[in-house]
Amino acid sequence: MPAADTSIIILAAGKGTRMRSSLAKVLHEAGGRTLIEHVIRACQALKPAQLLAIVGHQAEDVSRVAEALGAQTILQQPQRGTGHATQIARRAIRKSAKLAVVVPGDAPLLRTETLAALLDTHRRGEAAATILTAEIADPSGYGRIVRDSEGRVQAIVEDGKATAEQRAILEVNSSIYCFTLAKLWPCLAALRPDNMHRELYLTDAIAMLRERNERVLAYIAADANEVLGCNTRAHLADIDRIFRARKSAALMDSGVTIYLPETVIIDPEVAIGPDTIIEPAVRLLGHTRIGANCRVGAGSILFDMRVDDNVQIFPQSNLASSHVAARAQIGPFARLRPGAEIREGAHIGNFVEVKNSVIREGAKAMHLTYLGDASVGRESNIGAGTITCNYDGVAKRRTEIGSRVFIGSDTALVAPVRVGDGAYVAAGSVITENVPPDALGIARGRQANKPGWARQRRREIASAAKSSKRGVRVRSRSRKRPNRVSRRRSKSRRRS
Ligand code: UD1
Ligand code: CA
Repeated sequence: MPAADTSIIILAAGKGTRMRSSLAKVLHEAGGRTLIEHVIRACQALKPAQLLAIVGHQAEDVSRVAEALGAQTILQQPQRGTGHATQIARRAIRKSAKLAVVVPGDAPLLRTETLAALLDTHRRGEAAATILTAEIADPSGYGRIVRDSEGRVQAIVEDGKATAEQRAILEVNSSIYCFTLAKLWPCLAALRPDNMHRELYLTDAIAMLRERNERVLAYIAADANEVLGCNTRAHLADIDRIFRARKSAALMDSGVTIYLPETVIIDPEVAIGPDTIIEPAVRLLGHTRIGANCRVGAGSILFDMRVDDNVQIFPQSNLASSHVAARAQIGPFARLRPGAEIREGAHIGNFVEVKNSVIREGAKAMHLTYLGDASVGRESNIGAGTITCNYDGVAKRRTEIGSRVFIGSDTALVAPVRVGDGAYVAAGSVITENVPPDALGIARGRQANKPGWARQRRREIASAAKSSKRGVRVRSRSRKRPNRVSRRRSKSRRRS
């Protein structure tokens, strides 16, 4: 459906006063993208001859976003209304363009199919203007579509100017139109700012066209949500909710199970394979891709993740910019930071953090561990509380752990360090030197048992309690020789 004779004009110069924000309205996000990005994408897919964005308020920031998405920007300074913004576009419109589609930058739910249908209605009807309209339950704030006794569009009346009778009309102006340019320009030139805001309203061009006996049509959107504008934070929240519902519905259609979808947030680019289950309150963000037959546990957050088939992610895991291969298990309460590569069948358990590390096939780190700048070989087992000390205060250094290695609990691996294939590291070790393959590395104080120490200690406590009942205060114990030392102490106290 390329539209080689059509220019699209996106109106994005307004301040968005009702948002009460220091950020330009069209740069607010809903459904995982800025409002203007949604609009530009929907328009680009129509393949117009040119795509113009009228910018004004915070022009630099809005232009940067719009131009990155392939729009040409034109400055409207000052902003004197939607009619004025459309006039401004004239100088940039190609001579070859016969039609213009006008879209406000704050109508992000608009779909390309609807734009195409609007254009089609306009062409078939040989109209001067075709308005995308919708019937909505609460039309307050919108311009109303006033029709004559034969049902033909007569005018758009803005909310502020409408009579009580007109205010009851449920058919509203979306601010999305198709115009035949040769008919539009003379009307724009004749616009007058006779309204409360002293602005030039594009909506006034409709009545003018009718006065000139031009044909004005309305195309009623099948899905009224598509015309929703965003003027307030409450509108932004509504629009976000609709986008999330659309995305979840599309995924469910393609064979994904989503429980309590109203609690789940999934960004537009996210892809999920069939028979994967998404539990409540999950957030899948950025360019996350999840394979088939996976399960993503409640409350987990995945950002820019690649997850292959048959992966189990248990609740409350927080995973970013990493890869999890087939049949791996992650969480609950796991954290993958950028550059974690979890290979097939590996397990990353609760309170385990992995960053910039490869955990090879079948390896396991199940509890309370930090693996940073490390490589863990196949089938190795990382004990609870293991820490790779990867940062010496200046540089990050690597820890290399071979395959079938057993790292005892509470081990500190001071990088750079290497543990060879098949080696053991004793629990509680601080490993500062390489451990050769098949060796045992042990680095900790040797244990000494003191026979009878505890019994002696209990006796001492009991006798101290007796003395204090007699009114003598006793200072506390010594570790090594509790009986003698404390006896001496209590004597000296009594003396003083
Ligand atoms: C507009 C329509 C109203 C319609 C509603 C649909 C007018 C007068 N009213 O009202 O009939 O029901 O949209 O959402 O057109 N803009 C500029 N330059 C300006 C002024 C505005 O580029 O000088 C841009 C804004 O950035 C915005 C768009 O035009 O993206 C619409 O302006 P806005 O102020 O939101 O119009 P509404 O009051 O919503
Ligand atoms: Ca608006």
